[in-house]
Amino acid sequence: PIGKLEDRLHRPLQDLRISVTDRCNFRCTYCMPKEVFNKDYVYLPQSDLLSFEEITRLAEIFVAHGVTKIRLTGGEPLLRKNLEELIRMLSALRTIDHQKIDLTLTTNAALLKQKAQSLKEAGLNRLTVSLDALDDDIFRQMNDVDFPVTQVLEGIQAAESAGFKQIKINMVVKKNVNANQVVGMARYFKNTPHILRFIEYMDVGSSNAWCLDEVMSSAQIIDTLAQAGMPLTRLQPNNKSETAARYQHLDGQGELGFISSVSQAFCRDCSRARLSTQGMLYTCLFASQGYDLRQYLRNPVPDQVLTHSDTTISNLIAAIWQNRGDRYSELRRIASDGSSTKSQKIEMSYIGG
Ligand code: GTP
Ligand code: 5AD
Ligand code: SF4
Ligand code: SF4
Repeated sequence: PIGKLEDRLHRPLQDLRISVTDRCNFRCTYCMPKEVFNKDYVYLPQSDLLSFEEITRLAEIFVAHGVTKIRLTGGEPLLRKNLEELIRMLSALRTIDHQKIDLTLTTNAALLKQKAQSLKEAGLNRLTVSLDALDDDIFRQMNDVDFPVTQVLEGIQAAESAGFKQIKINMVVKKNVNANQVVGMARYFKNTPHILRFIEYMDVGSSNAWCLDEVMSSAQIIDTLAQAGMPLTRLQPNNKSETAARYQHLDGQGELGFISSVSQAFCRDCSRARLSTQGMLYTCLFASQGYDLRQYLRNPVPDQVLTHSDTTISNLIAAIWQNRGDRYSELRRIASDGSSTKSQKIEMSYIGG
């Protein structure tokens, strides 16, 4: 059936997050720690990646089921060759209501200075930049590849010049690592049009050795900001499925966001589907199993004409979404030692944040 879908908890399918590469030029300790993602780590071979045509074909089917927003992620999406071409293809899609798709991308900004203009011209609407510290030593320590913070800031400036008006800045906060950057970051972005978002460090994947003790909660951050002379006030949500609770400085100067997936799970309205680099569909960030959509796009045997019709794929996606009951963050169990109790989880760099 074509048309909007609802899962078992009556949540619509509205957002599609597409991972375009499992590689990254950073080694953030909370995401791709060097001990795991070293020179022996095996990334997906090129032939496993969905092509731009394959991605667009699937995206079109998702859009026919109600998706209005598409986010490109990775790994680091700007590492995917000719990404602008994919953006051009996706920006031509129209929603069920004949609107333009909200097309956006999450990047570490290492390549943004070179790419901002071409991304904008290709049709990218919005941009989110990950930035965990302003202090250069702390930033280098967190990306773990000695990447200087100035280049990220220059990337953000380049994006502004290219016409990205309001950029979201994602900061993952870890106690004892970058908690002392919270105030400085809030001050830096206060008088800009950009939205700084504090993210609670999550137990995604199995390689970051997550522990509850390292999570700085949104409530703690709000307190810290108030004590530093930056009291905040809550804003109405833009839409009910968004990840971030919106806030604003009490003096009206600048919006902030809090993504509290540990202290305040937001599964109730989660409308996000995730498509991995090799075409696996996941209905939750913490899923242990996905559905291989690529097998329906490619011929199992070369020369044999046996690919499936859009209708078959559409019905399959509908069945998967209608059967969805995921709400991991709400059910998350934390052991007495503060560790997460689910063992087999997909890595964030693979499933795309
Ligand atoms: P906007 O819609 O533009 O606000 O973006 P977003 O918040 O959906 O996407 P972004 O890639 O910026 O994600 C920000 C943080 O929220 C990342 O740490 C994500 O992993 C986390 N996040 C996004 N979606 C989910 C989700 O469905 N569940 C959980 N638990 N975390 C999520
Ligand atoms: N917890 C919270 N956020 C994370 N990200 C990556 N790993 C984690 C984690 N373990 C963030 C990145 C990026 C976004 C897509 O996900 O910093 O901003
Ligand atoms: Fe790369 Fe982003 Fe993961 Fe850091 S958080 S390692 S920049 S994918
Ligand atoms: Fe959605 Fe799963 Fe995240 Fe809950 S934990 S908000 S269901 S992706």
